[in-house]
Amino acid sequence: MQKILILHGPNLNLLGQREPEVYGELTLSEIDSRLKKSGENMGFEVRSYQSNSEGALIDALQEAQEWAAGVVFNPGGYTHTSVALRDAVAAIDVPVIEVHLSHVDAREDFRRISLISAVCVGKISGFGWRSYLLALEQMAHMLAESD
Ligand code: DQA
Repeated sequence: MQKILILHGPNLNLLGQREPEVYGELTLSEIDSRLKKSGENMGFEVRSYQSNSEGALIDALQEAQEWAAGVVFNPGGYTHTSVALRDAVAAIDVPVIEVHLSHVDAREDFRRISLISAVCVGKISGFGWRSYLLALEQMAHMLAESD
C-alpha cells in the first residue's frame, strides 16, 4: 500500500485554540484522523507528523524519500520565510503539494509570498481542513496516473 506523509509546520499543534475564526475549530488530531480515514478509502496509508522546528521538518522531508509516495505539506509561517525548507522540498524526489487552511492570498501582504510554492507540484489554500483533503485526492490522481 502506498504511503503519504501529511506534514504540519509550526503552531499547527495549537489548532482548535489558535485563532479559530481563521483556522477553524478542529484540533490537529481530529484533522489527522479524518485524513487517515479518507486516505484509507483512497487506498493509502496516511502518516502525519507535526513539528515547530524547521530542522525537524527538513529531516521529515528527507526521510520521506525512503518511504513516502507523496507529501502534503502545510509549512505554516515558514512558508513565507524558509529558504532551507524550500531547498529540502526541491532536493527530494517525492511530489509535494503545499496546503494552507486559510486563504493566504487574501490575507496580509507578507502571506502572499511563499518560498515553497515554486518547488511544489501545486498549492491548495482557503478551504480549512478540506484543503488537506483536496490535496490528498489530487495526490491520489497523480499517483494513479504515474503508475
Ligand atoms: C497557514 C498560513 C500561514 O500564513 C500561517 O503562518 C500559518 C498557517 C494556514 O494553514 O493557513 O501558520 O499555513
